[in-house]
Amino acid sequence: MWWWLLGVLSCVLLLVVVLFFLIIGQRYKVFSEKCLRPPGPLVTDSRQRDERLKKGFRADRVPPALDAVVIGSGIGGLTAAALLSKAGKRVAVLEQHDQAGGCTHTFQNKGFEFDVGIHYLGQLHEGSLLRVALDQITEGQLQFTRLEQHFDTLFLGQHDQRREYHIHAGKTEMADSLKKQFPGEEKAIDEFMRLMKLASRRTPLIAILKIIPYWLANFLVRFSILDRISSVFRLATTNHSEMMSRLTKNKDLQALSAYLFYGVAPKDSSFLINALLLHHYKRGAYYPRGGASEFAFHIIPVIQQAGGTVLVRAPVQRILINQQGKAYGVTVLKGQEEIEVHAPVVISNAGIFNTFQKFLPQPVQSLLGLVRHGMGSFLVFVGLDGTKEELGIVSTNFWMYKDNDLDSLMERYSSLSSEQVLGNIPMMFITFPSAKDPTSNIRQPGKSCMTLLTMARYEWFEEWEGTKLGKRGQNYVDMKNGMAQEMLDWALTIFPQLRDKVVMVDAATPLTNVHYLGAPRGEMYGAEHNLERFTPDTVARTRPQTPIDGLYLTGQDVFCNGMAGALHGGLLCASSVLNQVLYIDLLALKSHVVLE
Ligand SMILES: Cc1cc2nc3c(=O)[nH]c(=O)nc-3n(C[C@H](O)[C@H](O)[C@H](O)COP(=O)(O)OP(=O)(O)OC[C@H]3O[C@@H](n4cnc5c(N)ncnc54)[C@H](O)[C@@H]3O)c2cc1C
Ligand SMILES: *[C@@H]1O[C@H](CO)[C@@H](O)[C@H](O)[C@H]1NC(C)=O
Repeated sequence: MWWWLLGVLSCVLLLVVVLFFLIIGQRYKVFSEKCLRPPGPLVTDSRQRDERLKKGFRADRVPPALDAVVIGSGIGGLTAAALLSKAGKRVAVLEQHDQAGGCTHTFQNKGFEFDVGIHYLGQLHEGSLLRVALDQITEGQLQFTRLEQHFDTLFLGQHDQRREYHIHAGKTEMADSLKKQFPGEEKAIDEFMRLMKLASRRTPLIAILKIIPYWLANFLVRFSILDRISSVFRLATTNHSEMMSRLTKNKDLQALSAYLFYGVAPKDSSFLINALLLHHYKRGAYYPRGGASEFAFHIIPVIQQAGGTVLVRAPVQRILINQQGKAYGVTVLKGQEEIEVHAPVVISNAGIFNTFQKFLPQPVQSLLGLVRHGMGSFLVFVGLDGTKEELGIVSTNFWMYKDNDLDSLMERYSSLSSEQVLGNIPMMFITFPSAKDPTSNIRQPGKSCMTLLTMARYEWFEEWEGTKLGKRGQNYVDMKNGMAQEMLDWALTIFPQLRDKVVMVDAATPLTNVHYLGAPRGEMYGAEHNLERFTPDTVARTRPQTPIDGLYLTGQDVFCNGMAGALHGGLLCASSVLNQVLYIDLLALKSHVVLE
């Protein structure tokens, strides 16, 4: 009986809080259709691009009287900065790398351009919330190209045992094509799709836990009211393998439900997050036209228009805290000197570990204790001689697993010692960035590129921690080249025609991520996306607001990984800073856009 009362009571409370934000909270006009311009021509001149993406830090380049300073220029940092700028705030974004963008940065090697952390994106169909948000923070300048409807191919098993499955985008096509490939599993597939839809529709409830006042969120968590409000909280706390074993006994279908790897075995991961990842692509997979660096390239002008700036080679060392315990700025290392940058609001895009362990005089254990470092990644960048047509490559991505039992596969892989890794890489992702981008033949004529990706433990490379990029020694190079060769050979089993076309191979280890992405243990996706991360308590506590007055968190550690996850981190963060739920404004704009 009292359950029911509590439920009603908390709904009323929630409503009161939302109304408070709506009516009493300060109102900024952040979004408008007027800011949208027709997309300009692609800027390929590297000097023009560098001027924007590689503006170096100097004390005299920091604008006076800042409203906020942002540590890190990933999509999370840039989104928060652009939203605050649109509300009229003056923001400085400080990036440690020599170019802006975080995981969305790109790099050139021997005339090939590679992106790092953007392979394909979803939920970008016309009028989607994500699209409307991206249009707002780039003033309509960022464009996307759709991948083939058949956007992913999955290979399970080895040699002549290898099975091939195709994943198709489309409201009904995704389920239909699965049913064709798994006859007899129609019921399981329908149920999986139903749960996926539920997960996606109700995820805003999880996000709400991160913006309502913490006391209220805590109240809802403590009294276990959330499960009564929506079953999404149960999806979040159910491990993936458990849920899938209820739906089907088919091992291949179980594997297929969790093929988008991120370093956590299905049995230790949340069903919700796996469902959301696949759902992300249900309405189509997309790639940014012009490459991943287009994100930062088009967000930065919005920050500059409000008097703000984005400066690179600006490694933040510390967050400044005054005697009242309030954050009032940061220090940046310039040569031997630490330069102070002051602002009443400090936003960190550098993740929970950097922020609460490294930047503060006293680590914040209450938050550090909630999450673990995520697994690192290993990337192989392959330059190919020839166009997409000549090489016979496509925009479809490929996922390969040596076995369909992803639980034991992941467990075995992550318990390997560094000596055992070579010869035992059990999974891999293959993608052809140039084949996804129609502007590729303008940007790198006659050339194509392929990227291979697997997960890798930081521990395998830890002995070279502290060595400098390019000077880590022969053993490191051997290990790196060994893994790269193994992955390339494996990829060539499906693309034998590419063997003679390889003109360049380079690889990136978790140590590379430390250097370029500021990921403290080479994490691919920030804090680990394990089951614990999606318990209501952790969900409520990992929020933009921090225990330190004036300090906020943005990016993938706020909600979840991915460009979309990090962007939502930025939306939640800016909502928190402005004390205005920006989603309400965004939804209003979205419905307007859709109506027209
Ligand atoms: C290999 C790989 C492939 C991926 N593929 C996809 C994909 O296909 N689709 C997708 O949606 N997502 C993908 N992702 C994930 C996605 O790119 C990220 O989740 C997202 O971009 C993270 O954004 P962020 O803003 O939270 O963090 P980041 O982009 O990591 O930004 C953090 C920034 O903080 C900076 N920083 C750190 N410390 C300091 C300091 N002390 N001072 C100043 N700056 C600092 C870093 O240099 C970095 O620029 C991929 C990621 C990787 C690594
Ligand atoms: C997954 O959930 C089931 C049911 O709650 C539980 O029995 C099992 O131990 C869980 N698996 C792991 C690895 O936690």
